[in-house]
Formats: sequence, structure tokens, C-alpha cells
Amino acid sequence: MTGAQTKPLLRALAGETLDRPPWWLMRQAGRYLPEYRALRTQAEDFIGFCRSPKLAAEATLQPIRRFGMDAAILFSDILLVPRALGQKVGFGGDGPALDAIADDKALAALSLAGLDWLNPVYETIGRVRGDLPDTTALIGFAGAPWTVATYMVEGGSSRDFARVKGWAYRDPDSFGRLIGLIEEATIAFLLGQIAAGVEVVQLFDSWAGVLPEPAFARWAIAPARRIVSAVKARFPDCPVIGFPRGAGLLYERYASESGVTAIGLDTVVPLGHAATLQRAVPVQGNLDPVILAAGGSALSTAVGDIRHALAGGPHIFNLGHGVLPETPPEHVAELARLLAA
Ligand code: CP3
Repeated sequence: MTGAQTKPLLRALAGETLDRPPWWLMRQAGRYLPEYRALRTQAEDFIGFCRSPKLAAEATLQPIRRFGMDAAILFSDILLVPRALGQKVGFGGDGPALDAIADDKALAALSLAGLDWLNPVYETIGRVRGDLPDTTALIGFAGAPWTVATYMVEGGSSRDFARVKGWAYRDPDSFGRLIGLIEEATIAFLLGQIAAGVEVVQLFDSWAGVLPEPAFARWAIAPARRIVSAVKARFPDCPVIGFPRGAGLLYERYASESGVTAIGLDTVVPLGHAATLQRAVPVQGNLDPVILAAGGSALSTAVGDIRHALAGGPHIFNLGHGVLPETPPEHVAELARLLAA
């Protein structure tokens, strides 16, 4: 892949151990930045914002201008895929709200025929690529099928995932059709993003950690493996970062069976275990977002500990989950300074 020698993120993903880990932050664009909040007022609703190439490109670039991360992440959302499949998706004050689907009948109303609706996202990528510094990589992403299914079936965020798990346990064949549909849309979405110019993709399985092992193997690992192989069939050099948040002791199995290039580690993965995983694949993570929001000596100590523990192999510095809206931007600037030292 062109630029693989010069972009630190791509070097780490190729397995190189660098003196200073490349860094970016999940949710590095967003409400903690005053310039994002100002930009956000230019679109009526969040989905319209994501589908405006001008606004989404600007949101993608804002954190890069301010902090100079080694990677930009495309500004978009994992819930564009259910909307493209024909489900109603809204973002109110309390997070996402979807018209929940509960059975085969609701499933039959969804279709892959409307994926063109995602085309503005590819246009955003073209705009961003032209404006990024030479050493900054561009990351595309999608939600993993299990995580997207949780929102589609619960109708939003959930505490116990009883509906979506209930469907998966009661009628795995029917639930498997929903997962298969999301998987196909996700493959098309990721291939479209790579064709448009993203150099890496990340698969966010934010709710993988609520599944016991057999369900984790079937609904988290197997779809990831099929998505990775479809991406690799068309773009063999495109790295895929898998982020099965909360996978705990199952991280190891995910790393060895999904085929992902690298794994994103959540906040609670112990650094000793992270270093063990790093012998198999490059690792990304895993500063607690609350430590970034707290700042001060808690931040410098944690950054030092993570760097020290993972200095012996390929590491991409990141959070263990997304930046919190209350994070002072100066703390991100301080993190940039700590990582440059
Ligand atoms: O900077 C980036 O990381 C790129 C943009 C990005 C967004 N969402 C923008 C966004 C990315 C990578 C996501 C991923 C995403 N979206 C995930 C996976 C990562 C994770 O956090 O676990 C999930 C589960 C979603 C679904 C989603 N989108 C929720 C639950 C919410 C509401 C909660 C919230 O944070 O507001 C969103 C909305 C959303 N997506 C916002 C942003 C900046 C806030 C909406 C706004 O600005 O009005």
C-alpha cells in the first residue's frame, strides 16, 4: 500500500515496533470540541450531518488540525447501516432511537436495495484525503453485526440486551438471517469506503462483551471473520482493526480466529495480558477515557504505564473507548505532548 513506509499508523499495523507509538482516539471528533459543537448547528439532525460531505469532512479534520493525531477517523456513525437497510433511525437527546425490529416479519421489510443512500459518505472520504497531512492515515469504520443488531432489536441503547439475546437464543436461524443481512451491508459499506480512499478500517463491536463464549464465537467472531475475508479478497493490503469491547478472556480467541490485523483493547484489559496478546497481533489502546477527562498526574502516570508495558511490540496508542463529551480539549493537547516525548 502506498505510504506504508511513511505513515506511522500503517507501520505499526504492519507489525513494526516504533519508538513512539502512533496515536488516535476513538470519538476524537465530537462534542468535547467547541468547533464541533459550532459546526453541528449547521445541520438539523445528526444523520443529515453525517451525510453532508462538507460538514462530515470538516468534523473529521478538526481534531487533526488541533492535535495532530497520526490518524483521522472518518466522521460517520455505525447506525447509518440500519437506516440504509430501511429501518427508521433517529438521534434525540437520549441517544439513538430506532423502530425496533423483533421478528422475521420486520426483518423481511429490510433490504440491501437502498445502500446507495450511503454514497455521500464516500464523497466525504475523497474530500478528507485531499486535506490530510502526508503522514496522517485515514481510518474508515463500521459497526460489527452483533453491535448493530443490538440497536436494531432493542430500539436503542440497552441495559441487559434481553430482547436481542432472547431472539438469538430462541431462534438462532432467524437471528442469523438478521446478522447475515447486516454483514452483507457492512461488507459493501467497508469496500465502498476503501475504494473511496480510507487506508484502514475498524470494526466496532462495542457490545461483544455481553456474549457468553458459544454466542461470542457465533455472533462476534464468525461475522468478523467473514467480513475480514471479504475485505481481504478485494483489498489484500488493507488492515482491519477489530474492537470486541469487553471480550475479556475471549480477546485471545478473537485475535486468533477472526483474521483481523490488529485488536483494539478496552480499558479493563490488564497491561500484562495486553503484552501477551501483542505477541500475536498489533494492539491498540487502552487508556481509560475517564483518566483523559481527569488529566493531571493520573494522565501522565497512565500514559507512561501503557507505553512502558507495550513498548516491546507493535502498539497504537488509543483510549479503551470513546472520548467523553466532558473531556477538556487541553487534556488531549497534554496527551499529544506526553506521546511526543
Ligand atoms: O470521531 C470519531 O470517532 C468518528 C465518529 C464516530 C461517531 N460514532 C460519531 C458520533 C464513530 C466512530 C462512532 C461509532 C459509534 N456510534 C459506536 C461505536 C463506538 C462506541 O462508542 O462504542 C456506537 C455504539 C455508535 C452509536 C451511537 N452514535 C450512539 C450510542 C450515539 C449517542 C451517544 C452519544 O455519544 O451521543 C451516537 C451519536 C454520535 N455518533 C455522536 C457522535 C459525535 C453524538 C451526536 C451529536 O453530535 O449530536
